Amino acid sequence: MTTATTGRSAADRVTGTAHTRVEGRDKVTGAARYAAEIPFAELAHGWLVLSTVARGRVRGLDTDAVLAMPGVLTVLTHHNAPRVDTDFVGMMGVPPDPGTALFQHDRVPHRGWPVALVVAETSEQAREAAETLVVHYDEEPHDVAFSAGRAAEAYPVDGHMPAVVEKGDLDRELAASAVVVDAEYTTPEEHHNPMEPHAATARWEGGRLEVVDSNQGTHWVAGDLANLFSLDPGTVRVRSEHVGGGFGSKGVRAHQVAAVMAATVLHRPVRVVMTRRQMFSLAGYRSPTAQRVRLGADPDGRLRALEHRSLNQTSTVHEFVEPSAAAGRSMYAADAHHTVSRLVRLDVPTPTWMRAPGEAPGSFALESALDELAEKCGVDPIDLRLRNEPAVGPVSGLPFAGRNLVACFREGARRFGWAERDPRPGVRREGRWLLGTGTAAASFPAMAMPSTASVTAEADGTFTVRINAADIGTGARTALTLIAADALDVPTDRVLVRIGDSDLGPAMVAGGSAGTRSWAWAVTAAAEELRRGLAPGADIPPQGITVRSDTTEAVGALTQKERHSFGAQFAEVAVDPATGEIRVRRMLGVFAAGRIVNPLTARNQLVGGMIWGLSMALHEEAVRDPASGGVYGADLAGYHVAAHADVPHVEADWVDDPDPDDPVGIKGIGEVGIVGAAAAIANAVWHATGVRHRDLPIRPDRILSAGGDA
Ligand code: MOS
Repeated sequence: MTTATTGRSAADRVTGTAHTRVEGRDKVTGAARYAAEIPFAELAHGWLVLSTVARGRVRGLDTDAVLAMPGVLTVLTHHNAPRVDTDFVGMMGVPPDPGTALFQHDRVPHRGWPVALVVAETSEQAREAAETLVVHYDEEPHDVAFSAGRAAEAYPVDGHMPAVVEKGDLDRELAASAVVVDAEYTTPEEHHNPMEPHAATARWEGGRLEVVDSNQGTHWVAGDLANLFSLDPGTVRVRSEHVGGGFGSKGVRAHQVAAVMAATVLHRPVRVVMTRRQMFSLAGYRSPTAQRVRLGADPDGRLRALEHRSLNQTSTVHEFVEPSAAAGRSMYAADAHHTVSRLVRLDVPTPTWMRAPGEAPGSFALESALDELAEKCGVDPIDLRLRNEPAVGPVSGLPFAGRNLVACFREGARRFGWAERDPRPGVRREGRWLLGTGTAAASFPAMAMPSTASVTAEADGTFTVRINAADIGTGARTALTLIAADALDVPTDRVLVRIGDSDLGPAMVAGGSAGTRSWAWAVTAAAEELRRGLAPGADIPPQGITVRSDTTEAVGALTQKERHSFGAQFAEVAVDPATGEIRVRRMLGVFAAGRIVNPLTARNQLVGGMIWGLSMALHEEAVRDPASGGVYGADLAGYHVAAHADVPHVEADWVDDPDPDDPVGIKGIGEVGIVGAAAAIANAVWHATGVRHRDLPIRPDRILSAGGDA
């Protein structure tokens, strides 16, 4: 196993010290250009036409009329679009989403399915023509009604987690339990809504396909595009320099495929940008969930049985699992552990990964149920969790690579003032407000994935790091600058980090909370080897001296352990029972998430996750219209996300928790911040009002119709 051998003493390390974003000045001055802003000569613009029916066939398209409109260059449909190959295993180890195989047949599997691309000289001309295009459909009855009642048609599917995990005799342990909680929870359809919409420009240049895009991994997108268009991977280059958020939605999607098709047909660069409204059917989303949790415990709150069953929807063309039931497998000790995630297929777009897929909705159910158990047992919610701390993986039996959840709760409780809390609900008042506090645990897997990197000692004394990382707003570029500076033992201003280009070679995507860890490993390996090989004062040739690394072997040699980041979430809410208004007054999250590389951007990540948890608890909800099959109000006016005025004092901090098996000690912070945040708020709402809210979001009308202690 690699051990920490960074190039300087702990006291002099820049890793762990706050550093502003190296590209921050470019971003705030507008010098940093995003995918849809990069100029190209001879650029044409494509506009996607999406189906207005939720199920059926395209009978015909009146393309002739549109082709005669000003500036229109072509209209691609299933009649004339290039063929693509979908018979491959994608870069992420799963078959590609058939939603990216555009214009291959006349079937419409959901509303908002791409049926044509209109390409014109200007974006305005393309839009005008696209909105004029008349499409005739043979419409069929559709079904978009997700509910817990669909469980009878549902079936388990292994996604990125096994669907079914069972240990012990659930019925026996439940029967032997003095206290049982049996409750159902729901979470709605939620959308990523990154600030920057998806945008790609494709062109053929010197026999190579070049795509300028906004994505979470150019190696991933280039590989999938090469497979789709049956191209030699070396002939595809994808760049993605600055990315305005992704959250799981920015992989291979319709816009890149459409741009490549049009650039191929027209022999000139073509740009396709999704509108905010189109993102509601093209960018993926988090499935709604219906979850049932049964907990059986002894009178003191010690768990005997933990059952978590989750249902999510997927499309008719692709199985995507939101593994909400999986989180509990590593959280709490219990003699019997039964967890299952199942799917029901509907005439809807295929959901996808969205920040903490599984853990975010799953923790709402499980951590609410734990709070209900604490109430029933008359045990403090933190004590209840401490009583159920496992020594090893509750199901796997594997040791933990650090599990500092107890430390998070102790530190969080101290800072939040938990000891002064009156456990009785509905007793704190302040004028028209009922006040309450709540807590919940958070966890997210800590993974590392193989990556390659190179580090060059330049003749001018600087160092260039090349790693195909993606900075989707996380601060990855800055974190890797600190990592490289430490490994090289040089100041940060002598390190230039180049990322976001598939020509840089294979590397982990910005996803699974595993980007920084995976990239840092590869950068550290190359930088340390370079530093060891450089004789002091030696002359560097004009082309520099380059060392490359590939962590495939080292990452593969990691011993099997329960590897997770953890956290303790706290929230205080004020509820007005007369209006149903809920104000979150403060939030605190204390995390054990490995070594923190850059406290400034790390805090930003964790606070961002917590605010999304607030948004999930109180605001976010995409509602499908059963008649049209589409989302009502598919824009940022209709889809409510927490705004500044909704967000109170939010604090995130961490305890020391280096991963013993990682060269830098990193675990991961991208997702754990959202986990448990909604449950902490829901538990605080119960504490304020005495009423349990098991359906998200907790809207004012739900507070009003639930009645309670007004
Ligand atoms: Mo993520 S949901 O790993 O971008």
